Amino acid sequence: MRVTWATDIHLNFLNLQERASFFRSIVDAQPDAVFLTGDIAEAPSLQPLLGEMHAAVEAPLYFVLGNHDFYYGSISRVRADLASWSRIQQGLTYLTSTELVELTPTTVLIGHDGWGDGRYGNYHLSPVKLSDQELIEDFQDLNREEVLEKLRALGNEAARNLEEKLHRAVTVYPHVVCLTHVPPFKEACWYQGKMGNDDWLPYFACRAVGEVLMTVSQERPDCQIAVMCGHTHHEGVAHLRPNLCVFTGSAEYGAPCVQNTFELEELFEFSSPAEVDEGRVIGTDVVNRQSENVQ
Ligand SMILES: [Fe+2]
Ligand SMILES: [Fe+2]
Repeated sequence: MRVTWATDIHLNFLNLQERASFFRSIVDAQPDAVFLTGDIAEAPSLQPLLGEMHAAVEAPLYFVLGNHDFYYGSISRVRADLASWSRIQQGLTYLTSTELVELTPTTVLIGHDGWGDGRYGNYHLSPVKLSDQELIEDFQDLNREEVLEKLRALGNEAARNLEEKLHRAVTVYPHVVCLTHVPPFKEACWYQGKMGNDDWLPYFACRAVGEVLMTVSQERPDCQIAVMCGHTHHEGVAHLRPNLCVFTGSAEYGAPCVQNTFELEELFEFSSPAEVDEGRVIGTDVVNRQSENVQ
């Protein structure tokens, strides 16, 4: 199965022509399926733009939502609307509200939006304040402690959802692909400039989801888990364990692109450190380098 992956495409920043050109680049990649790891648009434009994309790309579209997708809306309402709307759209699957999706007899797809859960870095000393707190209804009028409580609750909700799906997935399939918006490990929270330090990590990594992934990957060394995410707009690959690999995608506002097109089998060959080309910036080297910079 041939998959095209894009992340943080922020379609609301593009005009009709620019969107058509981006959609054409996906059609040109000739995928059997398209993966989107969140920040597709904003709440009011999400359904129309996703519908437009779905009609244009000529392949089943599997997606999770990112923080921007809730701007000018509420998290629970946007999720509920998208869940019921995508359920009646043939070939459009919102993974957060979907159980296991079998891609091939050996590979299953799961996903959840995730959320920066305030657990990595130093929330209390961080001067960072994301637009999320102004533009998403759930955060409006919350004080700093209440915001942290909300971030943790959102992280926990994502972790619980994925934990249940993961446990069921690994009992049947040797290969699991997990889509989420927020990197689940600080090692996968790629940065440039300020990204990845203690100020940004509380908002840019979801520790609760990471703990679930780590536990399941330890319990089931015979299963390979590949996670794909975005949110930081900076790409990187982090091998957390021999059977757990996180791919973080890059993005630029106003210039969405295909992150990668690959055969599913290649993804799992690449995920295994035994297959890693030492010349590339991946592997334990990445984990070590990230740890030095973010602690
Ligand atoms: Fe984004
Ligand atoms: Fe994001």
